[in-house]
Amino acid sequence: MTDNRLLIVGASGFLGHALCDTSSTWACVPASRSGQQGHLALDVTQPDAVRDAVSQVRPQWVINAAALTSVDECERNPDRARAVHIDGTRNLIRACEQVGCGLVNVSTNYVFDGKKGPYAESDEARPINVYGRTKLESERVVLRALCPGIVVRTAVLYGFRPGCRPNFVTWAMAALSARQAIRVVTDEWANPTFVDELAAFIFSLCRTDFRGIVHFGGADFLTRFEMVERICALMGFDLSLVSAATSAEFGQPAQRPLRAGLCTTRAQTLCDVAPAPFDHNVRRLKRVLHQIAYV
Ligand SMILES: NC(=O)c1ccc[n+]([C@@H]2O[C@H](COP(=O)([O-])OP(=O)(O)OC[C@H]3O[C@@H](n4cnc5c(N)ncnc54)[C@H](OP(=O)(O)O)[C@@H]3O)[C@@H](O)[C@H]2O)c1
Repeated sequence: MTDNRLLIVGASGFLGHALCDTSSTWACVPASRSGQQGHLALDVTQPDAVRDAVSQVRPQWVINAAALTSVDECERNPDRARAVHIDGTRNLIRACEQVGCGLVNVSTNYVFDGKKGPYAESDEARPINVYGRTKLESERVVLRALCPGIVVRTAVLYGFRPGCRPNFVTWAMAALSARQAIRVVTDEWANPTFVDELAAFIFSLCRTDFRGIVHFGGADFLTRFEMVERICALMGFDLSLVSAATSAEFGQPAQRPLRAGLCTTRAQTLCDVAPAPFDHNVRRLKRVLHQIAYV
């Protein structure tokens, strides 16, 4: 095992990008399904490829940021969700056990039913869709492992990374800056999480002796509609372009936990981190997006 080295699995994704390009004291080795841009090729569903990559890199920790994050796609294709989330995590754990390194598995507030969020680590998980159920099962794989295992649950990631698909915040910003009307739900709560802050938290956490489940989310609990209201106020967009809807009106294949979100007391105790307010991070994002004429 090589001290100070992290293997980032799912490096082509949003969090994967943030982990690989945020400066830290760790040396990060990126791995992605397609092996693009000099990444190691690592499809988590292929046990041999996983074992070869982990034994070649011999990191101190593997960070698993690979997932099927389309909640509706998981509902339509549960076999694929199980393969990526459960079998994929099991393959990573077996490889970590062989090398003697740890696994940080990134998970979600969607393991809860959304009846009484924000949730603490001690609250009972009761997922209501395939995405949440398969992510919860992947957590159990990690917590039963013989190697060091950490589950970091997070919620509604936002921020900007070139080449990544838009997230809720950048989607709303792009649409509103082009004066397109959007419909946004008023009954889904969470604490949106700035991806840069999550990456920094994971780096700190890997320096601790902590094992188990920890929640990391942003400082403010907001509905999607409230997030867009704040974005309009901070960026000077026209709020009349935004119409309100309920989650049920969208008729999506997967049911969403409505009152979701995560309490982050444990995270703050472990790593002395304090996520910045949503408004502060939106202002940061505004500066970056103006510089590249994204909005
Ligand atoms: N985004 C959110 O709002 C949010 C909220 C709560 C929790 N999370 C969790 O945070 C983590 C990171 O999410 P994200 O937003 O960065 O997701 P993302 O942008 O959708 O990235 C997920 C990555 O997983 C990769 N992947 C899928 N199947 C794979 C496989 N078989 N082998 C290897 N890689 C595979 C994808 O690569 P390809 O493109 O090649 O398929 C993609 O790069 C996930 O665990 C997610 O569940 C996200």
